[in-house]
Amino acid sequence: MFPAETYIRRREELAQKVGSGIILFLGNDLSPINYDANTYPFRQDSSFLYYSGIREPANFLVMDLDEGETTLYGYEQSMDDIVWEGERAPLKVQAEMAGIPSVQDIEFGAGFLLSESMNDRTIHVLPAYQEKHLHFLSAFFSCDIKDLGAVYSHRLIEAVVAQRSKKEQQEIEEIKKAIYISDKMHREAIAFSKDGRKEQEIVAQMQRICGENGVGMAYGSIFTQRGEILHNNLHNGVLADGSLVLNDSGAESPFHYASDITRTFPVNGSFSDKQKDIYSIVLEAQNAVIDSIRPGIAYIDLHLKASEIIASGLTELGIMKGDPKEAVKEGAHALFFPHGLGHMLGLDVHDMEGLGEDFVGYADGQERSEQFGLNHLRLARELEEGFVLTVEPGIYFIPKLIDGWKSTGAWNDFINFELLEEYRDFGGIRLEDNVLVTADGAENLSEAIPKLPEEIEALIGTA
Ligand code: GLY
Ligand code: MN
Ligand code: MN
Repeated sequence: MFPAETYIRRREELAQKVGSGIILFLGNDLSPINYDANTYPFRQDSSFLYYSGIREPANFLVMDLDEGETTLYGYEQSMDDIVWEGERAPLKVQAEMAGIPSVQDIEFGAGFLLSESMNDRTIHVLPAYQEKHLHFLSAFFSCDIKDLGAVYSHRLIEAVVAQRSKKEQQEIEEIKKAIYISDKMHREAIAFSKDGRKEQEIVAQMQRICGENGVGMAYGSIFTQRGEILHNNLHNGVLADGSLVLNDSGAESPFHYASDITRTFPVNGSFSDKQKDIYSIVLEAQNAVIDSIRPGIAYIDLHLKASEIIASGLTELGIMKGDPKEAVKEGAHALFFPHGLGHMLGLDVHDMEGLGEDFVGYADGQERSEQFGLNHLRLARELEEGFVLTVEPGIYFIPKLIDGWKSTGAWNDFINFELLEEYRDFGGIRLEDNVLVTADGAENLSEAIPKLPEEIEALIGTA
């Protein structure tokens, strides 16, 4: 974890922003797979981590802003726990490392929170997602789980989002560590690519690299020749000559910061002309966006910029027609680019998405578009120095979507459906990098990961 001063400062800033009441951060608990003692890999809640750095399960943190008291609630190990799990630092020591002055037993804490003395206090909580927390909050607020949305504290959400959005230098260093491991994963994946090799063998190589570095993956790898399936989590294909592989994989850092990187490459070592044409458009869109990133620019404008480059490129190839600007205005490009340009990155791969996408990616009063494609834009707001975000344009050929659009007859002014038939089995190309917004521009933190067609071609099959 970071030094105690980091967590003390973050909590002081938070207390100032929220002002009054009680802030309750629920740390995650272990979750059984098939019986109590066999649990899913444990991952602490990101906001709990941000304000305490504590990775142990079954804790919660209470900041009583009215009394100026901060307490860590948890449990001390029983002798049985020590015998089976080994000894861990006592609660008091964990609290000291996070600069938290007092500790209490978690059962006592739960009783205290559920007691009548809390009835007239304002309690600020973040949206919950673990089943256990949903039940606890339902009892605490005396409401159905489905109605909990109404009790989450907007004041707390906004304060947390404001803090977590602006990355400190030590957080940027963590993200760089995650990217460094991802760099190795992506190089290995490209080098191992060979006709006849199973997708899952290559995913296993990437998992090995994470394991050897003592970290986990930031999310389940998307490693597939069916790149047009945006979040395809199946790795059941066998690499075949002529196809493209889309590899969207990222490691966590030792302190649980994410990286989120996508590269697309041809199995057999060289891009066909058709593949290179589409790849070049995606690369051009991505470069143009990264070159334009600076504080004050709205990410939705960069999404539209990328969309226009994609529409222009596809028009040059004859797949789209008409005026590219007009096509983007009408949303025609979304047949090929149906997702958003990117999202915040930090302790979560879609950073803070659990707190509510609109709180994170949209400014006060900024409405989310309802247009297909644009409606999936997670980040639309003006950028600020210290944000870390992904830039991930793509072009996909989704047969069902193409058929659906064709059948309406409404898109004939913008889409050449006849030529499009030749791309039906193309798959998809996405390029994704992780970018820091600096005082006067941007730094591509993942620039070192091979991306130019010739760099990629030189690496394929070399393992
Ligand atoms: N890895 C998921 C995404 O790019 O958003
Ligand atoms: Mn992403
Ligand atoms: Mn990704």
